[in-house]
Amino acid sequence: GKRTFTMIKPDAVEAGHIGAILEQITASGFKIVALKMTQMATADAQEFYAVHNERPFFGELVEFMTRGPIVAAVLEKENAVEDFRALIGATNPEDAADGTIRKKYAKSVGENAVHGSDSDENAKIEASFHFAGREMF
Ligand code: GTP
Ligand code: MG
Repeated sequence: GKRTFTMIKPDAVEAGHIGAILEQITASGFKIVALKMTQMATADAQEFYAVHNERPFFGELVEFMTRGPIVAAVLEKENAVEDFRALIGATNPEDAADGTIRKKYAKSVGENAVHGSDSDENAKIEASFHFAGREMF
């Protein structure tokens, strides 16, 4: 697949890391084909993360993801989903490789700076969740 979906999460937006994170993403060969700052309502986050709704951290996750603005983007590159997951690093920054976005900017397993789609199918679903067709180039 050539496209993936990402969010710069509220912790990284609050900390002023939007520019540095987008710079690392584009310097790593990803082309930005959709981009906006937005804030998810509780119902949006519950729907976006529905796959996790039985997990013990679900309430915390929804609280976190709705507490402030995020930056949503669609990214294009060969092998986008897998390469972007490698660029961001492990979910828990303690386990993330040096130089990865989460190693540099994540605070904890919950407040982990960025999202990356985990499959081509989910990338399409997540991009369409946040962007109208005319907003994706
Ligand atoms: P995403 O790219 O955001 O989907 O992260 P991921 O695919 O690396 O992890 P996963 O889909 O398993 O979890 C989704 C998100 O839930 C994580 O990115 C965290 O923000 C949050 N999360 C996962 N595990 C925990 C946890 O143990 N505690 C808390 N508070 N949040 C968690
Ligand atoms: Mg995930």
